[in-house]
Amino acid sequence: MTRSNVAELLNSTNFSQEVNLKGWVRTFRANRFIALSDGSTINAIQCVVDFENTDESILKRITTGAAIALKGILVESLGKGQNVEIKVSKIEILGDSNPEEYPIQPKKHSLEFLRENAHLRIRTNTFGAVMRVRSALSFAVHKYFTKNGFYNFHAPIITGSDAEGAGEMFNVTTLDANNPPRNEEGKIDYSKDFFGKLTHLTVSGQLEAETYAMALGKVYTFGPTFRAENSNTTRHLAEFWMIEPEVAFNNLDDNMDLAEDFIKSVISYVLKNCKDDLTFLNDRFIQEEKSKPVMERSEMSLIEKLNFIIDNNFTRVTYTEAIDILKNSTPNKKKKFKYLIEDWGTDLQSEHERYLVEKHFKCPVILYDYPAKIKAFYMRLNDDGKTVRAMDVLFPGIGEIVGGSQREERLDILQKKMSDLGIDEKELWWYLDTRKFGTAVHSGFGLGFERLVQFTTGMGNIRDVIPYPRTPQNAEF
Ligand code: 4AD
Ligand code: MG
Repeated sequence: MTRSNVAELLNSTNFSQEVNLKGWVRTFRANRFIALSDGSTINAIQCVVDFENTDESILKRITTGAAIALKGILVESLGKGQNVEIKVSKIEILGDSNPEEYPIQPKKHSLEFLRENAHLRIRTNTFGAVMRVRSALSFAVHKYFTKNGFYNFHAPIITGSDAEGAGEMFNVTTLDANNPPRNEEGKIDYSKDFFGKLTHLTVSGQLEAETYAMALGKVYTFGPTFRAENSNTTRHLAEFWMIEPEVAFNNLDDNMDLAEDFIKSVISYVLKNCKDDLTFLNDRFIQEEKSKPVMERSEMSLIEKLNFIIDNNFTRVTYTEAIDILKNSTPNKKKKFKYLIEDWGTDLQSEHERYLVEKHFKCPVILYDYPAKIKAFYMRLNDDGKTVRAMDVLFPGIGEIVGGSQREERLDILQKKMSDLGIDEKELWWYLDTRKFGTAVHSGFGLGFERLVQFTTGMGNIRDVIPYPRTPQNAEF
């Protein structure tokens, strides 16, 4: 007999059918009622055990966390809280779970405790819901780009170049750290290393994606990226997944349109397809907000926030306009910002981004035309000679969710920029080739997948939306 899953059965009206189910015990009450879950949905199905005809020794082993197999009949439920239940005829314990030792008891655990038990936290409702939504979002990403004529491009993970020029990279080496080969100057001789040069884990697949966009037209990457920045915040990971579309012939306006349409599309997908998980996460979000000081509480529920994103245009503002708004803002005048805004040209901190989104515009914002000095070398220089065609999408509660730009397609200007910044042309000869042979306007952006999952699930800490977070001093599991 084939095995059913809980999601199917909860929606079934095919009563009296014999079913065969396997899953894990959530709770066992009154020696009779098992709440069984198998991962197919956030909901557990009630399974009623005929305790008079079941061995005492079996009943004792039906504990929270135990894996069981059962046979029974699907019946209409007379009890409150569920429409259907299973009248169990046969039960088998597949794997015991000692209640004295099992950390995930049916009670509220702190997120910190669950992070230390990341291998088991997925068995809670919260993490089950978050990770099912994460999976749905990932599918929605591929669906969106495939539907819109993009090719999925697999960027290399080991690279010899530093795409963002920020230098926050993990090295990849097989040299003996205790006794590396050295050159005449006494420096480590990477020509003896595995790749014959110093290599890193990629911080972004963009530069390689650009080369593919210049032939396939529209491509996107969706893969892991790595940053050795020592940021212990609720929005930074050392290993995170990034989605990077790159489109030939798109200018910055097209790029903004794409980012906005893409984000709206994947959020709509989840609203349509993850109803049970989102209902649970919405209730959780409302409870969490209640524990915050009134001033910091979200005015909207999670589901209202998601609908708000879909129903409203993102406001597009230049960096220069944003600086004026920030300079004249109350927190700047009253010196409430940690970093005060004084001059044009300073980089924005997340407190400024969140002020613009949450207090000033009260909707997602796309900031563009940033000072060249605070952005990467590959961004297209504007005619004013001091700003570049950069764009950041800023979201409530998150700050920057997308960073992108129109790329500098003019070889001479790109070369000058690289030389000003001390970037060796020899390292990026292949990148410069795209500007030598059939160069054209093109644009792209990177969206931090975990920040999107954070926003969509309402989780406050990025460590709770990736299965095994990597952060400074932490690579357990
Ligand atoms: O703004 P970033 O650094 O842009 C790039 O890497 C470009 N090469 C993208 C492109 O144009 N193809 O990063 C893009 C996004 C950020 O907006 C943020 O959402 C996310 O990646 N991100 C991080 N997410 C989690 N942890 C970190 N340490 C992150 N750093 C960036
Ligand atoms: Mg950025």
